[in-house]
Amino acid sequence: MKRLKDSFDRTINYMRISITDRCNLRCIYCMPAEGLIPIEHKEILSYEEILRILRVAVNLGLRKIRITGGEPLVRKNVTYLIASIKKIAGIEDLSLTTNGVLLEQFAEGLINAGIDRVNISLDSLRPDRYREITRGGDIDTVLNGIEAAERAGLSPIKINMVPIRRLNDDEIEEFAKITMKAPYQVRFIEFMPFGTDTWSQDKFISADEIKSIVENIGPLTPVNMKKSGPARYFKFDGAVGVIGFISPLSNHFCMECNRLRLTADGKLRPCLFSETEIDLKPALRSGAPDEEIERLIKLSIEAKPEGHTIPQDTHFRKQIKNKKVYRRPMSKIGG
Ligand code: GTP
Ligand code: 5AD
Ligand code: SF4
Repeated sequence: MKRLKDSFDRTINYMRISITDRCNLRCIYCMPAEGLIPIEHKEILSYEEILRILRVAVNLGLRKIRITGGEPLVRKNVTYLIASIKKIAGIEDLSLTTNGVLLEQFAEGLINAGIDRVNISLDSLRPDRYREITRGGDIDTVLNGIEAAERAGLSPIKINMVPIRRLNDDEIEEFAKITMKAPYQVRFIEFMPFGTDTWSQDKFISADEIKSIVENIGPLTPVNMKKSGPARYFKFDGAVGVIGFISPLSNHFCMECNRLRLTADGKLRPCLFSETEIDLKPALRSGAPDEEIERLIKLSIEAKPEGHTIPQDTHFRKQIKNKKVYRRPMSKIGG
């Protein structure tokens, strides 16, 4: 089997594909209040272009695909894309990250198209607060979506919660308790400074602190999960679900990073925290052969940095103070 290795001997076998930067919510940690100017339609990769990139990448050793957004379910015919990806021999894991708003409508279709599993973002269980965080979202649509996903047989269901100090940190225990009765993976993600001016050091809560809050409920035992990605997993005694902690800032997992990102406008982004991007669109749209796409994919893997040093980086701290962090907000990268 072919393997793609980067300059630090990491095997790169996972691509996160953002298929749209549009979203039916406007979460405060992801977008500015006024929303964002969407990428022009003609700049967005067509499904055929995405599939071509994937065929080349799978030939090189790619095995795992995640569809992201914005909100991926707002793009037309997303089930056609999923069914087409599923037909590419060599892909072992095909998943999607969604805010869950359209999941009730899509759960069956996603499963029929061949999706293996979904991750759902949910940052509050309180209707008013959920509306505030998402700037208008209705929590019931998401809760119904999660139930529909479970009924349809999507498994495991992962719930992503981003705790933010004085906003929703008083719900950490409640989220953790979900795992007592439901077979979900509830994952707490450290708040990352992306493209909005909401982030500040005092709102940041480290994974260790989140874990100690969860431990107020009872002791946690580590769980060894296959394919655990960036999360570290634990479990309460007798619980049916598990709890994960994702610590991109306090204890980054760059040395185990296996991923590459593709933005909706066709840029390969070797690292979430680096602005380096390699544009595939000129090659795709000028009739270049597959060898050229292959060369660009390899180039982006060569450009993958060893890791980020954000917490120690004084230049970065200054940028945060001046609100000059990343050009792309999270919704234009896909998490
Ligand atoms: P699985 O473990 O395969 O289920 O997926 P995942 O955790 O990679 O996907 P998901 O979209 O649910 O991402 C969860 C969170 O982890 C998001 O906030 C991502 O931004 C963050 N994350 C995922 N990959 C990376 C990474 O390479 N670097 C950093 N810093 N954060 C990441
Ligand atoms: N910090 C941490 N996680 C974020 N996400 C979006 N923006 C941020 C941020 N600034 C998460 C969403 C989603 C995942 C893809 O990324 O909650 O679950
Ligand atoms: Fe939309 Fe996801 Fe960003 Fe929320 S975090 S605004 S759901 S893209």
